[in-house]
Amino acid sequence: MSVKQDVLTKLEHSRGQFFSGEELARELDVSRTAVWKAIKQLEVEGYEIHAVPNKGYCLSLNTDVISTEGIRASLLKEWKDCAITTYKETGSTNQNAKLAAAEGAEHGSLFVAEAQTNGRGRRGRVFETPKGNGIYMSILLKPQMEAADAIYMTTAASVAVRRAIKKVTGKETLIKWVNDLYFEEKKVCGILTEAVTDIQTGMVDSIILGIGINFNMPEDAFSEEIKHVAGSLYHGENVEVTRNQLVAEIFNQVMELCMNKDDRSFIEEYKKYSFILGEEIVILSADGNIPAKAVDITDFGGLVVELLDGTRKTISSGEVSIRKQSMVKDKNA
Ligand code: BTN
Repeated sequence: MSVKQDVLTKLEHSRGQFFSGEELARELDVSRTAVWKAIKQLEVEGYEIHAVPNKGYCLSLNTDVISTEGIRASLLKEWKDCAITTYKETGSTNQNAKLAAAEGAEHGSLFVAEAQTNGRGRRGRVFETPKGNGIYMSILLKPQMEAADAIYMTTAASVAVRRAIKKVTGKETLIKWVNDLYFEEKKVCGILTEAVTDIQTGMVDSIILGIGINFNMPEDAFSEEIKHVAGSLYHGENVEVTRNQLVAEIFNQVMELCMNKDDRSFIEEYKKYSFILGEEIVILSADGNIPAKAVDITDFGGLVVELLDGTRKTISSGEVSIRKQSMVKDKNA
């Protein structure tokens, strides 16, 4: 690790706390000049560092720069050494994860970007990922399970991200089947799950969980096309929790929930926070729009609907898009 990374690791672990240049130099076994240079480099990269005579250096609580060191500071012990790649800008973190998987990247590799130029959503849609205050991340999982068993991952991921948002920000989000999260009636998170399957064995080789979160977006961050449906957890204000903390907590929760395939207890949590259950919905399928009522979620994350003639059927995530009847005009939801 470079001196800059070492200094950042130290400051990120104790945000808001002062360390003297001498103390840092001694602990890292480098000169005080090297520490000073590292601090200057970090400032150029956007970190706000308070430098106070007789007290030393302290990472401001307002600093919110995505970094490997910042994420690692909040990871659970068992994941402290996982492979993390961060980008100021990339095409798509899901694409990065897929390429890395093909090159042998390990289970639990994490890819996080400040901005994407080619962010993808479900059903081949573009996913807007403006620079500055969003979280665009992908987790590479190698779950050693059959493709059929891996289907629940999408549902589990929504619960994991919901839990992480609640823990880090205190905010209660709601789930829209299959895996969008809403806050204040607007979409703040979308999840794209992609699987690479070994055709011969039928086993899943890798799963890529791509998660996009509007963390602290100003009102004008979104295009005309989606601004009536796209929301944000915060709205351009100063917040004391960081994107790094949320990324790390999402990772912690995903690794616990998504890899525990025999425990389906999260389905009850999914149902509890699902805002379409019991609602009149419209199923948007290739055969047209079908009115129905959302009645249940199966253990595998399928949506049980009741059609107008009273018959029930289970629809799977790949098949259709659904809207609450009141949302039909919101084509990007
Ligand atoms: C959706 O709402 O349709 C899913 C959006 C998923 C977006 C995330 S952002 C990180 C990762 N990289 C991508 O290109 N897509 C996912």
